[in-house]
Amino acid sequence: MLAVAILAAGKGTRMKSKLPKVLHPLGSKSLVERAIESCKIVKPHRTLVIIGYEGDKIENALNHLENVEFVQQTEQLGTGHAIMQLLPHLKDFTGDLLVLNGDVPLLRPETVEELVNTHQKNKNATTLLTANLKNPQGYGRVFCDGNNLVTQIVEDRDCNSAQKQNHRINAGVYCFNWQCLKEALPQLTTNNDQQEYYLTEVVDFLNPVMALDVHDHSEISGINDRCQLAVAYDVLQARVKEGWMKAGVTMIDPDSITIDETVQLGIDVTIEPQTHIRGNTIIGANCKIGPGCLIENSIIEDNTTVLYSVISDSKISANTRIGPYAHLRGGVELGENCRVGNFVEIKKSSIGNKTNIAHLSYIGDATLGNQVNIGAGTITANYDGVKKHPTIIGDRTKTGSNSVFVAPVTIGEDVTVGAGSVITHDVPNDSLAIARGKQKNIEGWKKP
Ligand code: UD1
Ligand code: CA
Repeated sequence: MLAVAILAAGKGTRMKSKLPKVLHPLGSKSLVERAIESCKIVKPHRTLVIIGYEGDKIENALNHLENVEFVQQTEQLGTGHAIMQLLPHLKDFTGDLLVLNGDVPLLRPETVEELVNTHQKNKNATTLLTANLKNPQGYGRVFCDGNNLVTQIVEDRDCNSAQKQNHRINAGVYCFNWQCLKEALPQLTTNNDQQEYYLTEVVDFLNPVMALDVHDHSEISGINDRCQLAVAYDVLQARVKEGWMKAGVTMIDPDSITIDETVQLGIDVTIEPQTHIRGNTIIGANCKIGPGCLIENSIIEDNTTVLYSVISDSKISANTRIGPYAHLRGGVELGENCRVGNFVEIKKSSIGNKTNIAHLSYIGDATLGNQVNIGAGTITANYDGVKKHPTIIGDRTKTGSNSVFVAPVTIGEDVTVGAGSVITHDVPNDSLAIARGKQKNIEGWKKP
C-alpha cells in the first residue's frame, strides 16, 4: 500500500500575499494541485494534505479532487511536526508514505515513480530526492557515505562553513517505510536554529536511507516567492511548447507564446507571436493562429485562421477566417467558410455556413442563417435596458451598411435591408426593407 502526504500548512510569508502560498496558480492549476497530480502515476491508496494556515481555502480549492483527505496542523512547528499529525490518521496503515512539499509543483510523474521503485527495490527505510546545485543556498544539505546512503541532513541555516561546501541538497521529496517512520517521529528534537521539529532529522534514526539524484534541477525547485513562481511558469511553458513542436506544431517566436497544458493542438498548426491559448481549447489541423491572439475554452476546427483577435467559450468551424481585431466573447457558434473581420464583436450567437460579418459590427443573441452578408456597421440592438432579446436573420439575406435590428425581430430569407435602416418589425422572405428618413435636397440654399 502507498499513501501520499502533502505538506501545505505553512503561510508562505515570502509570497507577500493574502492567498496561502500553495494556492497560487501556476498556469491552470495551483501549486498544491500540481504536487498532488505528480503522484497520480504511483496510484496512491490515500492522499493526505496537511493544512493549517487558511486551511479552509485550501480544502475548498481542492474539493473537486477525489480521494483527498485533510489533516489539520493547527500550529506550524516544523515539517516533522506536520508529519506527526498523520499518526492518528495512519494508525492502521501499512506500507510506504510518499511525502512532498506542497510548494514543489514541477516534479515529473516519472521521477516520483522512479523514487518509489528505487525505494521498494532496495527495501530502504527512506529514499529521498537530491540534486547537486550550483547555488544550494536555502536548501538542506545531504551528506552521504561512499554507498550513496544518507548519514545526515543539515538545514542551510544550521550548516557550519565546511558543511556549506556540500552542494548536494534535499529536494523535500521522500518515500518512507511508514512502520519505520512511525517509530522515528517521536524521537525528533527541536535542537536547531529555528527550534522546530524537522522531518529531515528522522534520517538520524532510520537505516538505510538512500539518496536519488534528480538530473533536471527545474523539477525540484520549491516556490517561495513570486520571482520563483515566474521562473517556474517559464519552465512549465517550455515543457508544453516543446511537446507540441515535437508533435507537429510550428511556433514562430515561442518565447512570446503561452499555451496551457489543457490545450490540444492538431497537426501542422502554426502559432504566431504574442498568442495565448488557454483552458480547454482544441485547435484543429492546419489552423493558423496569431499573431496577437487570446483564445480561451474554445474549439477551432481545421484550416481556420485567426489574426489579432480574442475568442472565448466559442466554437468555430472549419475554413473560417477571423480578424484582425474580432472579439468573440462567449457562446458563439460559427459555421464553415465564414468570415468575421475587423472590429466585429459577437456574443451568444449561432451563425450558419458561408456567412460574412466583415466590418464594424455587434452581433448579440442572434441566429444567422447560411450565406448571410452582414454589411459594415450592422448592429443588433439586443438590450432594451432590462432584458436581452433575439434577432433572427434568414439564409442569403443582406443587411445594408449601418443597419440596426431592434430585437426581438425576425428577418426572413433572401431579404435585402437598405443601408442606414432601423428595423423594428419582422421582414418577410424575399423582400426589401428600408427604414430611414427620406433624403431632402434644398437647392440654392445659402448659409445664414
Ligand atoms: C525544506 C527542508 C529542506 C529542503 C527544502 C526543499 C525541512 C526541515 N527542510 O525546507 O531540507 O531542502 O524543504 O524545498 O524539512 N510546512 C508545514 N508545516 C510546518 C512547516 C512547513 O506544513 O510546520 C510545509 C510548508 O507549507 C511547505 C513545506 O512544508 O509546503 C516546506 O516548508 P518550508 O518552510 O518551505 O521548508 P524549507 O525551509 O524550504
Ligand atoms: Ca520551501
